[in-house]
Amino acid sequence: MSEVLLCARGLTKRFGGLAAVNDVSLDLWRQRIHAVIGPNGAGKSTLTNLLSGDLVPTAGKVTLDGRDITGWNPERISRAGLGRSYQKTNIFLPFTVWENIRLAAQSRTPQAARWLRLATSVKAANERAERALELAGLQARRGFVAGTISHGEQRQLEIAMTLATDPHVLLLDEPLAGMGTAEAERMVALLLRLKQEHAMLLVEHDMDAVFALADHLTVMVNGQVIASGAPAQVRADANVQSAYLGEEDAAAGPPQGGDAPTRGRAAGLPASWGANSNG
Ligand SMILES: Nc1ncnc2c1ncn2[C@@H]1O[C@H](COP(=O)(O)OP(=O)(O)OP(=O)(O)O)[C@@H](O)[C@H]1O
Ligand SMILES: [Mg+2]
Repeated sequence: MSEVLLCARGLTKRFGGLAAVNDVSLDLWRQRIHAVIGPNGAGKSTLTNLLSGDLVPTAGKVTLDGRDITGWNPERISRAGLGRSYQKTNIFLPFTVWENIRLAAQSRTPQAARWLRLATSVKAANERAERALELAGLQARRGFVAGTISHGEQRQLEIAMTLATDPHVLLLDEPLAGMGTAEAERMVALLLRLKQEHAMLLVEHDMDAVFALADHLTVMVNGQVIASGAPAQVRADANVQSAYLGEEDAAAGPPQGGDAPTRGRAAGLPASWGANSNG
């Protein structure tokens, strides 16, 4: 059943004079993917960091399963059921795929149990890791050193590591960054599978993926939400069009038919949105 798992209200983050995130509110529902798009520097990663506890908001509030988690540290938020992946790949390259996932699973074990090496907690961590390996489709890469697998598989591994902490809310910051078409399609299929059991925030520049996946779409510019709603509705929004295409193009309306958009670009949305950065 669909329900709101994470709720953010009035989130603001100031860095000196810059409001990187300015009064942003959103709800993440179980079994729904909420995509956040916008140009480089719009505040998407900062928003993700506010939800995960990597940054403390200047103002606003975040609740997870009805509990106020504002100001909690990332470890505590992770244990409460929120998992995230980072824009920059964040894996231990000299370790095997299995070791990476197993370490992530262990991070969910309470400190005391870790010291005591309780058999039950070891077993539970192994089971979580096993499930994550399978869910992410990496069984065949289990014993491979992480530094030797493909870029797409490394991104899959990162998601597997997130899954190993047993989250019910997932925040994914550009999981398709730097991927070719086949890798991107595999990742889209994985995210669709994960949607069945999770609420998901997806920050992504790949518009093909966004429109294939998103149930809800929020557009950010300069820290602010300029449009939010059903993807088709947002795509047709005059504000969204003019914010990117300029007055003339906006007056002409979104492109009709014509060339098929290339990967990472969607008709009616700007080419710059297809650009990946790793900032
Ligand atoms: N720790 C920080 N200190 C100061 N300014 C920051 C910090 N982190 C981000 N910013 C600024 O906040 C703004 C939003 O950055 P953010 O990384 O959230 O954008 P983004 O939408 O994720 O961009 P991209 O698509 O390039 O990843 C930018 O102007 C950035 O320079
Ligand atoms: Mg970012």
